[in-house]
Amino acid sequence: MTNHYYITGSSSGIGKALALELLADANNVVHGISRSETISHERYRHTTVDFAWQEAVLNFSFEQHPDDTKRIVLVNNAGTLGDMGYLGELKDEDIAASLNVNLVTPAILTNKFLRQFTGHPAEKVIINITSGAATSAYDGWSVYCTSKAGIDMLSRVAHAERLQRSDAKTHILAVAPGVVDTAMQTQIRSSTEEQFSRVAKFHELKKNQQLYNATDVARQLADLIANPASATDVVSRISL
Ligand SMILES: NC(=O)c1ccc[n+]([C@@H]2O[C@H](COP(=O)([O-])OP(=O)(O)OC[C@H]3O[C@@H](n4cnc5c(N)ncnc54)[C@H](OP(=O)(O)O)[C@@H]3O)[C@@H](O)[C@H]2O)c1
Repeated sequence: MTNHYYITGSSSGIGKALALELLADANNVVHGISRSETISHERYRHTTVDFAWQEAVLNFSFEQHPDDTKRIVLVNNAGTLGDMGYLGELKDEDIAASLNVNLVTPAILTNKFLRQFTGHPAEKVIINITSGAATSAYDGWSVYCTSKAGIDMLSRVAHAERLQRSDAKTHILAVAPGVVDTAMQTQIRSSTEEQFSRVAKFHELKKNQQLYNATDVARQLADLIANPASATDVVSRISL
């Protein structure tokens, strides 16, 4: 029986590592969604979408899957730090674009996913990738922190609604991956102390090789997707 995994931001970092991890299993089909396509595999299907452009997200649709599909999964992973810097110094249009990528798109995709698949006999799992920034007010990251706080609450409300409807076949979780060695970390280290006062700490983490490897994080995510009932809370953090 086949499993279908929709992963946003599958072109790089954690999303790409997760896609490759899942493709190792011949029962899995991975549907990647991002602006660029970097995976070539017989069971990988790519849809090119720029999540900053809301119209494109509204036009996205999930495929139909037969009733004997075992598991249908959505991983809202795509994310951007956007313009790092203090409020009052950001570009107005970047605020809208980053919130579209980090929060509006996951909300719309969650809505489309549940509308289409709620009555489907497969097990359904939605994993929203969050961050420690959801609960810490980091200067220079106002839009990123705000969007991840929104992701946590979106996940908690969606989970509560499934319980309210006694929908035991749908699991909704938010997972913070820890500090992972991806392009996003390179961008963080490229900021100045004026834009982000804690930048030195991130240089130190890299220098001391304390960043998580994306493949290790992907393995943990794949384990959680295979056993979502093992999560002790709706919002959790990966610890390696
Ligand atoms: N790395 C960390 O330390 C860390 C820590 C906590 C949370 N996270 C979260 O983990 C997730 C993945 O981040 P990462 O570290 O793997 O970063 P990454 O390597 O920069 O990957 C980001 C992904 O998001 C996609 N994306 C960005 N803007 C997009 C847009 N406008 N439209 C469509 N797709 C877009 C990118 O694809 P395209 O460029 O091809 O569009 C890329 O595949 C994010 O949600 C991030 O907030 C990361």
